[in-house]
Amino acid sequence: MCGIIGYLGDREATPILMESLKRLEYRGYDSAGVAVLEGHQRADRHTSVTKSESKVDVLIEKLQANMPTGKLGIGHTRWATHGKPTYVNAHPHTDCTNRIYVVHNGIIENFAELKKELEAAGHEFTSDTDTEVVPHLIEANYKGDFLAAVRAALKRIRGAYALAMFSTDDPELLVGARLNAPLVVGLGEHEYYVASDITAIIPYTKRVLILGEGEVAAVTPLGAEVSTLDGTTVKPKLVHVDWDVSQAQKGGFAHFMLKEIHDTPEAVANAMRGRLTDDGIVSFREFDVEDKKLKGYEEVLLLGMGTSRHAAMVGEFLIEDWAGIPARAQDASEFRYRRPTFGPKTLAVVLTQSGETADTLVGLHRAKERGALTVAVTNVFASSAARDADGAIYLHAGPEIGVASTKTLTAHMVSLGLLSLRLATVNGRVSLERRRELVTALRALPDQVRELIDREKEIAKIAHRYSRYRNFMYFGRGLGYPVALEGALKLKEISYVHAEGTTGGELKHGPIALLDKEFPVVAICTASPTKDKMVSNVHEIVARNAPVLALITKGDRSLDDVAMDVFEMPAVEEVASAILNTVMLQLFAYHVAIKLGQDVDQPRNLAKSVTVE
Ligand code: G6P
Repeated sequence: MCGIIGYLGDREATPILMESLKRLEYRGYDSAGVAVLEGHQRADRHTSVTKSESKVDVLIEKLQANMPTGKLGIGHTRWATHGKPTYVNAHPHTDCTNRIYVVHNGIIENFAELKKELEAAGHEFTSDTDTEVVPHLIEANYKGDFLAAVRAALKRIRGAYALAMFSTDDPELLVGARLNAPLVVGLGEHEYYVASDITAIIPYTKRVLILGEGEVAAVTPLGAEVSTLDGTTVKPKLVHVDWDVSQAQKGGFAHFMLKEIHDTPEAVANAMRGRLTDDGIVSFREFDVEDKKLKGYEEVLLLGMGTSRHAAMVGEFLIEDWAGIPARAQDASEFRYRRPTFGPKTLAVVLTQSGETADTLVGLHRAKERGALTVAVTNVFASSAARDADGAIYLHAGPEIGVASTKTLTAHMVSLGLLSLRLATVNGRVSLERRRELVTALRALPDQVRELIDREKEIAKIAHRYSRYRNFMYFGRGLGYPVALEGALKLKEISYVHAEGTTGGELKHGPIALLDKEFPVVAICTASPTKDKMVSNVHEIVARNAPVLALITKGDRSLDDVAMDVFEMPAVEEVASAILNTVMLQLFAYHVAIKLGQDVDQPRNLAKSVTVE
């Protein structure tokens, strides 16, 4: 998401902030800004703020033309979550008195209620961001001690934040804080850094303190002191980082794709953040449709391309199953040339991580022309899809740099789970008890994904063995079908090995003719109402001598001595299972491709965003 840098030390802050922001550019951003404390004497002390509503280079040009001088400063590259990418929405943000400066990465879930409360108390807001509540909340709590005010303010905040902050009244204090978003403190010689990403500070220091959840770092010329929001001092983890810039950008992983798969637990949590109550009531800020109106939609059309089309298929299944509304997922490039029959009673859901896929955008326009209510589910704030649709559901997965989509797909699946739950609720199709069960299942996902990723070595071992085959068949039923299609797509995209996906039922109508001992099959056999059918299919496949890798639910023995390999997955709700199976197959494809020596981040002939037909 956003990139953060803070500096306090002996050197001039501005050139360091500029260089750091340049290094954070790779994450993608829509605007940037810095605040530098100028003036040594109390009387002439003030903070100079410079912002650009576009490129970091534009910010740098502005700074070069008018370079603020000072030893304390903060900088930010913004990846918008609340409020369009405009000058006023660019960070740093400040309070009513222009004394407190804040840069933020994350999402403040309760910002609307805090803003209301602060406005009622006379605070004036200038931006549409969630971040701006932070400086105002600190101002409201300020009684002469900046650090105490920060702690008091942060106790009120729910959600995710990585923050770097200072006050014009405290020229020797830089404060960092984090909750559900990463933040590190770099320790240099007579200088300190606060950063969201080690990449920002890598040329300056190798010694880094990793802040824990809910911890605050008070950085002064004497050192960095870390404490909890209650003021209890804690000993932070000190690590020695010997990465170069490119390794740091990948968080120490060999490839962006692998880093992004490892980002999935956070992406899944962010897709739910602030949108789901304990009772399973779902709300989307940028798709705020009244229950009564939403109830009036008689069918749902889901459009997407590539991986996003597979997300659409997951949505189709869940909306039909949970909400009982006819739903159809379509290839947007086909849909645009059809003569569709629907109209104003249709809800059109457009899935696109980039928000810029040409065919998907045309599909969206066609749906709008026919009077459908449109909503874009996308990772990019104010992207074309988000702007053109009537509403938007943002994935909040953070930038995805690997060409093959990974964490944005799982975030898409979670978002569609929430949308389906919302539709099921307004249509009275789901009991409170069932909603609570689903909430529990969804909330358990980040940890379950983490546990699965911890088994990466096991997955790599299997992948290495299978990497000798030139053809693969993936198959599943129900929710397992889009998962199978995506597993096959991931493999072919990054390893250039032929792979196709089919349903268990279709298998006998053609695909089975391909199978022999050199044509392995990946079977999605985790618990579902059609699991027994899948098991029968696997028997049929094994009878044709094809090697089978089966994903099964832990404890299920029905494929012992049948499949060549079984990989045990946890016993979870079907929707959670689809997400976990997807992550497993992403890791499998990644390790096959690596074994074959392919460039997984930039596969041949593919582009991250296909903006032409
Ligand atoms: C390209 C990418 C895929 C992506 C597809 C749709 O083909 O390589 O990873 O799934 O576009 O992109 P979208 O941005 O619309 O999700």
